[in-house]
Amino acid sequence: MANSPISHDRTLRRAAVTGGSGFVGRNLVAALLSAGIEVRSVDNRPSEPVPGASAVTADLRDPQQAVEALADVDVVFHLAGNPSGTVSVEDPLLDFSSNAVVGINVLEAVRHHAGTRLLYLSTAMVYGQPETTPCHEKDPCRPFYPYGASKLAVEHWLNSYVAAYGIDASAARAFVVYGPGEDPRRAGAEPGQFLRWHLNGAPIRITGDPDTKIRDFVHVDDLIAGLLVAARRGEPGAVYNVGSGTSVSLRELVSVIEAATGRSAEVTVDERDLTDSYALVADISALRELGYEPRTPLGDGIQRLAAAMGPAPALPALSTVLSATNH
Ligand SMILES: NC(=O)c1ccc[n+]([C@@H]2O[C@H](COP(=O)([O-])OP(=O)(O)OC[C@H]3O[C@@H](n4cnc5c(N)ncnc54)[C@H](O)[C@@H]3O)[C@@H](O)[C@H]2O)c1
Repeated sequence: MANSPISHDRTLRRAAVTGGSGFVGRNLVAALLSAGIEVRSVDNRPSEPVPGASAVTADLRDPQQAVEALADVDVVFHLAGNPSGTVSVEDPLLDFSSNAVVGINVLEAVRHHAGTRLLYLSTAMVYGQPETTPCHEKDPCRPFYPYGASKLAVEHWLNSYVAAYGIDASAARAFVVYGPGEDPRRAGAEPGQFLRWHLNGAPIRITGDPDTKIRDFVHVDDLIAGLLVAARRGEPGAVYNVGSGTSVSLRELVSVIEAATGRSAEVTVDERDLTDSYALVADISALRELGYEPRTPLGDGIQRLAAAMGPAPALPALSTVLSATNH
């Protein structure tokens, strides 16, 4: 196709999803099955399998288990690991083993299984505090949490494996993902946390500056659509932002929640930690060129999530204060 950004259009029939028991993983497994793709979920934490998928229990910190669990598929979606900046600040070695060590083991497994496509789910936290908004994939990456550093290390290893061994791998940087199926004990994203407090009649706790802390909230269905586009059409060695492309401050998020539930919210603001009070919003033009289009407006997504949670969902467990110095 002359002048087309699409130079690949891979057919994917059999997929492995690492982290398949997790929030994004379970949603991805279900979406792949609906798209007619055979799916194997790989996780070290057994969970009720998504009907129709096979499940393998494997600890991917072990290279041999990674090679065995990821055999005989066309594509590996690599999602397993620690998804929390807060946890990485509290325990950087745990973060290193679950993100960096697992990441290189997955790369080694894909190198071993020649011809397997790899799509690695990275994070917008790799940018640190961006210099411009929205941020583009080519912008500098200066992560300031161990989580962002370990996720970025795997992006670099991935590129080196593409160059050195010719593996077919790309990465996607997810912004703040929300939607059904988050475990409240592990979830740190504001939409789910804020809703859980609000639906229980508790004050919404904002950490940081409500007006300058601006994020790109992307519904998990849109994230998954983006991952599928990137897996099928992404360039080897390329990284793609996956977000909504829309800027929303935490104060605006509260208003969206109030509109969705029809009740006004009580809000407390803790401005002691302003480390991440800046705008982190995706320029999604690269993935758009491959056919991605976010379809869930924040208000609709929040309304559906509130309905799915019911009147008294479990309260969030993770602290929202990220800086270890404030503990
Ligand atoms: N949720 C978000 O807002 C968000 C944003 C950006 C990027 N991401 C990325 O998406 C991915 C999934 O995040 P999530 O929110 O679904 O997290 P999650 O914690 O719900 O899922 C992660 C899964 O990985 C599994 N896992 C961890 N260590 C493992 C190991 N050693 N071997 C096998 N499995 C292991 C866990 O058991 C868990 O089921 C992560 O890589 C995260 O960095 C998430």
